[in-house]
Amino acid sequence: MPNKLKDKVCIITGATGGMGRAISETFAASGAQLILSGRNKEKGSALEKKLKNSVFIQGDVSTAQHNKELVQAAISNFGRLDILSINAGVLGLGNVVDLSVETWHKTLETNLSAIFYLSKFAIPYLSESKSGNILINASIAAFKSFPNHPAYCASKAASVALMKQLAVDYGPKLRVNAICPGPVDTPLLHDSAIAFENPESAVGNAKKMTLLQRLGTPEDIAKLALFLVSDDASWITGSTINIDGGILNA
Ligand SMILES: NC(=O)c1ccc[n+]([C@@H]2O[C@H](COP(=O)([O-])OP(=O)(O)OC[C@H]3O[C@@H](n4cnc5c(N)ncnc54)[C@H](OP(=O)(O)O)[C@@H]3O)[C@@H](O)[C@H]2O)c1
Repeated sequence: MPNKLKDKVCIITGATGGMGRAISETFAASGAQLILSGRNKEKGSALEKKLKNSVFIQGDVSTAQHNKELVQAAISNFGRLDILSINAGVLGLGNVVDLSVETWHKTLETNLSAIFYLSKFAIPYLSESKSGNILINASIAAFKSFPNHPAYCASKAASVALMKQLAVDYGPKLRVNAICPGPVDTPLLHDSAIAFENPESAVGNAKKMTLLQRLGTPEDIAKLALFLVSDDASWITGSTINIDGGILNA
């Protein structure tokens, strides 16, 4: 798909992580110009070097300021903004009694408030684009509970609700959608194992629970993300698309 995103300017959060990195590489290969966000400077700078027409901005998405800087960077470097791909996320594991108040807030701020902040600052620019759209990386955790994931599940369910609200308020100018991945082979999935009764078998069990008998790859997710942000998906908005190997239907 060399030209699907030709000349489109995209902000990608979580670009230093498993899925965000694959999405960044796929969008770059499709002709996009990228603002990459993450906290890990080494990984972000290496990705910026690898992908032409990309600029890495280090920062914490749970702050309004970093999200504002991402939008400013898009305008100052590329003069426009067309697409948001919002991927940054944390697990914030622990049952309600054990979970600290700080972790609860940090998880909600990173997984949910960051969507509000980035949308808030970006929408005036996205609205000037003929292809303006927002893609939120939610999770099947929006619909299904997992042991010791209260902050994560609540933040992902609320992300889907916020996506629908944005689609209502900013259609027909903007399209807004969410993808809901099942178990994808990234550091986050492996980190989640400790929340389960048998951590050593948790990832293997997740794989066995999919109808397709495999974990997702970051590239599986990137292909769907590319379709949804491109003009090929021009009649899709307010939708959640599950990409989960069939696990929700198992
Ligand atoms: N893996 C799965 O099975 C799965 C399933 C469903 C949904 N998801 C969702 O998919 C998205 C991507 O997850 P992943 O699996 O690719 O995880 P990952 O490899 O752990 O990557 C997470 C990314 O989020 C960034 N991040 C976290 N907190 C941040 C903060 N406060 N400020 C800025 N960046 C922050 C990380 O940046 P640094 O590393 O630079 O700190 C990293 O780039 C997440 O929203 C996750 O909830 C994952």
